[in-house]
Amino acid sequence: MADRLAGKVAIVTGAGSIGHGWGNGKATAVLFVREGAKVLLVDRNRDAVGETAEGCEGMVAACVEASGRLDVLRNNVGILAHGVAFEHTLADLDRVLAVDLTSVFLGCKYAIPVMIANGGGSIINLSPIASNHHLGPAYVSYPTTKAAINQFTKVTAAQYGMHNIRVNAILPGFIRTPMVELSVVDAFRGKAKLDDAERECTITEYLDKRNAQIPLGRWGEVWDVAKTALFLSSDDSAYISGIEMPVYGGAAGMLA
Ligand SMILES: NC(=O)c1ccc[n+]([C@@H]2O[C@H](COP(=O)([O-])OP(=O)(O)OC[C@H]3O[C@@H](n4cnc5c(N)ncnc54)[C@H](O)[C@@H]3O)[C@@H](O)[C@H]2O)c1
Repeated sequence: MADRLAGKVAIVTGAGSIGHGWGNGKATAVLFVREGAKVLLVDRNRDAVGETAEGCEGMVAACVEASGRLDVLRNNVGILAHGVAFEHTLADLDRVLAVDLTSVFLGCKYAIPVMIANGGGSIINLSPIASNHHLGPAYVSYPTTKAAINQFTKVTAAQYGMHNIRVNAILPGFIRTPMVELSVVDAFRGKAKLDDAERECTITEYLDKRNAQIPLGRWGEVWDVAKTALFLSSDDSAYISGIEMPVYGGAAGMLA
């Protein structure tokens, strides 16, 4: 274990994953603990958190004991609903807004006073690169909601910098997680639309095709995102606030 977060207390929301394997929140929580933080895991799926907690023995209890302070809030929860504007229902939009944006707002609303009392803190939001670029999938509420998170990040960073609270967003590209795998499977089952060329592929061919589109030649891993969250949580990034940090394998040129 290293000690880049030694003595710090963190909350990670969405710390499980919606299927077997590693999600972004799960990997981040594990890395935070390895680096010495006490971490409170939050997830709607208790079993998913249980799987994470088993890998980080005792961390929830340790965090509760230490709950007099909070140094890091890692807002990770996110869901997506398929559907373009004319087919999306108001209920779909409300659900995505509530889970993806309102959760960030509420987390910050209650964390910030504690961080001010601590003398500072680091808030890290997660927002896909799709919040700034249309990548093709037939959805509207997910990128729109996440774009609001980007602006919330910048505004909140400006408003609380004087209290030594840093607020940053990580913008991952394609990261292979249970959420993405299920979404790809859904697309092949017809719940979400594929274009003609994609429809001719098998899932494996589709994933290979996606890999080939990334300049670094592969999808991202949850550890790529978790290590970025570690940097933004630690004092190594003490002068960094209000940024959108892309973690997308060099895809800038493709997204102009
Ligand atoms: N995987 C990618 O390619 C990618 C790219 C960019 C951004 N992201 C973002 O990463 C975040 C996590 O996604 P992931 O791909 O790791 O998915 P994941 O499904 O592996 O993890 C999401 C976790 O959030 C939990 N969750 C969902 N709604 C919740 C709620 N209302 N309250 C508490 N917990 C809730 C789920 O139970 C799950 O454990 C999301 O915000 C997503 O937008 C993912």
